[in-house]
Amino acid sequence: MDDLLLDQSRRWAMGRPSFLPLCAHVHQHKSKSQIIMSNIKFVNSDNQEIKEVVVAQGANLRLKALENQIDLYKFYGKMMNCGGYGQCATCIVEIVEGEENLSPRSKVEETKLKKKPANYRLACQTLVNGPVTVKIKP
Ligand code: FES
Repeated sequence: MDDLLLDQSRRWAMGRPSFLPLCAHVHQHKSKSQIIMSNIKFVNSDNQEIKEVVVAQGANLRLKALENQIDLYKFYGKMMNCGGYGQCATCIVEIVEGEENLSPRSKVEETKLKKKPANYRLACQTLVNGPVTVKIKP
């Protein structure tokens, strides 16, 4: 009975596009290959460390921030953010170190961030593949 329930929840999780892919990824590849971990250090506008978290390679920066109670959004963003679909540009972060360890800027980011410095990213569009330092609310 427990195996059936576990199997059903795995199938459900693997079909989810955005909320549980990390969970599905870990379960899928656990026995085949080693999971590569990375660190994300979140800092405030004074470059003081808020929190450092360990994530699996390919983790979504916005999701990891929210899961770890990192407050990405300013007032307007708290009320009106798009939920991670790259439409509102309220999840802007500045990459202080480790830019090379992130997924390339998406077309959405190129459009939304064209007047911002090159090291600004939309957290919801950014995947982490290595150690990075991220300034929130730049
Ligand atoms: S949450 Fe809306 S663009 Fe990132």
